[in-house]
Amino acid sequence: MFDKSVYIARRKVLASKISSGVVLMLGNSEAGCNYTDNTYVFRQDSTFLYYFGLDKPDLAAVIDIDSGEEIIFGDDVDIDDIIWMGPQPFLKDEAAEVGVGKTAPLAKLEDYIKEAAAKGRKVHFIPQYRYHNMIQLNRMLGIPFEDMKKAPSLELILAVVSQRLIKEPCEIEEIEKACDLGYAMHYTAMKMMKPGMVEQELVGVMEGVCLSGGYMTSFATILSQHGETLHNHKHDGILTPGKLCVIDAGAEIASHYASDFTRTLPVGGKFTQKQKDVYTIVATANQYALENARPGITYKDVHLGASKIILQGLANLGLVHGDIEEMTAAGVQGLFMPHGLGHNMGLDVHDMENLGENYVGYGPGQERAKQLGLGSLRMARMLEPGQVITDEPGIYFIPALIEKWKKEGTNAQYVDFARLESYYDFGGIRLEDDILITEKGARLLGRKRLPIGVEQVEEEMKDN
Ligand code: GLY
Ligand code: MN
Repeated sequence: MFDKSVYIARRKVLASKISSGVVLMLGNSEAGCNYTDNTYVFRQDSTFLYYFGLDKPDLAAVIDIDSGEEIIFGDDVDIDDIIWMGPQPFLKDEAAEVGVGKTAPLAKLEDYIKEAAAKGRKVHFIPQYRYHNMIQLNRMLGIPFEDMKKAPSLELILAVVSQRLIKEPCEIEEIEKACDLGYAMHYTAMKMMKPGMVEQELVGVMEGVCLSGGYMTSFATILSQHGETLHNHKHDGILTPGKLCVIDAGAEIASHYASDFTRTLPVGGKFTQKQKDVYTIVATANQYALENARPGITYKDVHLGASKIILQGLANLGLVHGDIEEMTAAGVQGLFMPHGLGHNMGLDVHDMENLGENYVGYGPGQERAKQLGLGSLRMARMLEPGQVITDEPGIYFIPALIEKWKKEGTNAQYVDFARLESYYDFGGIRLEDDILITEKGARLLGRKRLPIGVEQVEEEMKDN
């Protein structure tokens, strides 16, 4: 938790951005995994954490915009809880640590909200992703479940997004720590990876490194020799010399800030020439984004610049041919990189994604493209100092997608489908770093950068 002045200042800014009414923030509750008492690891809601800091279940908070009153709703433990959980601090003392002077039992929340609504006051809340909280909203405000998606307050969403997008120095410090832990996860895998191991063995070790130094992984680990499947969570492959293994994983530390890195490693420690050729294109695109991301340029333009590097590289390999600008406009890069260059990162690995990707990643006047790849770009905004984003270009050879384009004649004038057939068993390559937009440009987050150059990676893996 940060000093209480951080939370007080954040709430003051938030309140100044909302015209009137009551802001309602729902924390998360425990969620049963396979039965009620066997719960998933508890994860507080990130927006609740951002404004109210308290990291435990069954809390809610309100900010009365008109009177300035702030209340945290929750219950103190009783003797039964103490028997099972040990003594717990009083809510009023915890609330004081985040600068909130008033608390009330959770059961009072419903009356409070119903009363505000009955007076015709606007109750602002953000989109919910937990059914428990949707049920609460349904009970308190009578919102039908089918209307839950359109009920949140756009005014609140935009206010929260504008604040959380720009990271404070204390947040950047935490993200750096998450990056250092992410580095340790990946570096361990790079050193341990040996032919004959099952992918899951590496996943287990990486996640162990994460858990021993942090809270949990920042998302489900992706580790696969089928890197052409973008989010492959199947880890039953046996590591086979000559294959590429995509490892996309990150750490969430105790303060809940995240990291997210991807490296693509040659099983056995040596890239083939064919792999080197494609790998070098992706590494060049990654470096391009790092060097070109800066205030005053949109990340959409950086995405398009990286796409041109990818197309030029593929043209050099004879896999596409044509004018690079024309091919970029036609979206040929989507065949090889059907995802965006990156996303915001902070308390969520895809920061604030639940508030609505377009509100988070797209600024006024920016419209999301429909094209394959560009349409998946989560962060297209004008860059500003303090934004934390990922830089994650990739090249993938997805046989089903290539076959589809071939059959439908999509961009057939640019793509050498016959030559692509020899890449059907290639897999994919993604290289991801986390970057901070500074006053003049961008810098990598984390004390050390994971090895990324071909020689660097081979040197690190020479004993594997
Ligand atoms: N690293 C996983 C993702 O960005 O979706
Ligand atoms: Mn990512």
